[in-house]
Parts: sequence; structure tokens; C-alpha cells
Amino acid sequence: MEPVAADNEEAVEAWSGVLFDRWAEHRDVLALSIRPFSDTAYELCCPQPGERVLDVGCGLGETTLALAEMVGAEGEVVGIDAGERFTGAAADEAAAAGAGNVAYITGDVQVADLGGPYDLAFSRFGTMFFGNPVAALRNVRSSLRPGGRLCMVVWRNKLANEWLHRGELVVDKYLERPEETDEPTCGPGPFSMANADTTTDIVAAAGFDDIALRRCDIDYLMGDDIDKAIEVVMAIGPAGELIRLVGADAERIRPQLEAELRDAYADLVRDDGVWAPASTWIVSAFNPG
Ligand SMILES: C[S@@+](CC[C@H](N)C(=O)[O-])C[C@H]1O[C@@H](n2cnc3c(N)ncnc32)[C@H](O)[C@@H]1O
Repeated sequence: MEPVAADNEEAVEAWSGVLFDRWAEHRDVLALSIRPFSDTAYELCCPQPGERVLDVGCGLGETTLALAEMVGAEGEVVGIDAGERFTGAAADEAAAAGAGNVAYITGDVQVADLGGPYDLAFSRFGTMFFGNPVAALRNVRSSLRPGGRLCMVVWRNKLANEWLHRGELVVDKYLERPEETDEPTCGPGPFSMANADTTTDIVAAAGFDDIALRRCDIDYLMGDDIDKAIEVVMAIGPAGELIRLVGADAERIRPQLEAELRDAYADLVRDDGVWAPASTWIVSAFNPG
């Protein structure tokens, strides 16, 4: 593992520990839920056979493998993630799948040697957790060839993401964020790039040109049934984080929280699962060189 920027140490600790555990535990539903957003992003950034692609904050490597198919044997995809357990699992899965054109770096995107030049830097929900997003995206830009492109999917505002926000509203009624805690948090968090102007400014300050944000709204599968949906909401995102930070006092009222969450999401239950409104930006930009 390469050095981690001081302002990312806590988030990297969280993603290397408890957040890896939770992501892996709920991967069955999370992988299905977020795939439509990356599918839309691929259509916009059009990875081409023979290209070299960097997958930023690649997690368990699902997008890395999908991109590897698109660039083919003449191309290459490098996944970078700060969580060693993520890159370890992703590399094992790539080997099991016989993918010969992928490689993984364990490192903090903000400071790691990213090993360019790349034609495309892609990210699905992997760029919202940097302590210094300008520095991190500047590092990404400097790994791109002149004219190389950036394509990143980030969450839009909370109100438009009811799959997480309804849960947060319920949990906020009962729990208060502790001032002191030993539990690590995931840094700026999933909504840090929700504001279009701020995100455009961040990407511009990192040196990118021709910045465009395309809104992409797709209903989000929270789980096959309400039990699974509630379990995931209580494990990840703002509601999951608050429950984790509060600890034993939150666990004591878990049945009450579960009951209220069940009511909060009841109208979203369908025969084929629980589907909630969700909204993202797909951010495109170019490295002027
Ligand atoms: C929400 S997950 C998304 C994972 C993956 N892109 C996907 O769509 O399945 C965010 C990922 O970003 C990684 N991450 C967070 N901060 C990072 C940093 N500073 N450098 C590299 N990776 C980071 C986390 O370890 C985690 O795997």
C-alpha cells in the first residue's frame, strides 16, 4: 500500500474495515442496484477496443471487468482502490474470470502513482470520498494523455435519492451524532459532489476542460423485499453511519427504527422488490494536456 494523504486516513480506515465488510455482505443487492448507472455512463464515454482505462475507486472490480471486456485484449484496465481488501478480492475474481487485461493498484487516488498514460478515467461512485477532491482529480488528470477523458458517476442531492434519504430522516429523529467516537467515517460522503456548480468548479480546478454534467435518474432496487431493503439502509449510507457511530444506544432501539423504516418505505414495495427514486450526475470532461 502506497502512502495515504493525511486528510484521507480516516476514510481509508473505514473503507478498509467496516465499510468493506458491509459492502461485501450486501453486494448481491448493491451490485444490481448500481449497475444501470454505469451502463448509462459507458454509453456516454464509449470505451474503445485497445484503450487504457483507469477505474477510480474500483471497489470489488465489477466495472473494471466490464470495461476490460469493452477495451478487449489489446487494451488494459487498471483498477485503483485504497482498500486492500477490495483490490485483493477484485484481483482474485479477475483471475478466476481469466481476465488477462486488468491490473489493480492499492492506493489513495489523491497521492498514488496512477501509472498512466490512460485514454479514459472512469469512476462509478468512487470519487466522492476524497478529503481534497481537487488534488485527487488533478492526480487523475495528470495520468491521462492529452485529450484523455474523465467519466464519473456521482450521486445528486439527497432529496432526489429517496432510497437513502428516507432512512436518514427516520434515524435522525431518534439519534444524535456523537461528538466523540472511535468509529471511522467515510470522509466527505456520498453526496459531496451533489451540487452541480461545486462539482464543476472542482473538476475545472483539477485542470479539466469541456466539463458536462448529465443528469441520470433511474429507480433503484433497494432489496428483493422490505426486510432486505431495511437491512441495507441500516448498514450503509448516512443512516447506517449514524447507527454505527451511536453504537449501543442505537442498537437498543433497533426494533423501533426497523418498524418506522418499514413504514417509511412501504409505498415503494412492488412484486419484484423495493424500488426507490435515485438520481446521479454523470460528469464528463477532457484533459487539455
Ligand atoms: C461506494 S464504493 C464504489 C466502489 C465501486 N466503484 C463500485 O461502483 O462498485 C467507493 C470506493 O471508493 C474507494 N475509495 C474511497 N476513498 C478512496 C481513495 N482516497 N483512494 C482510492 N479509493 C478510494 C473505497 O475504498 C470504495 O471501494
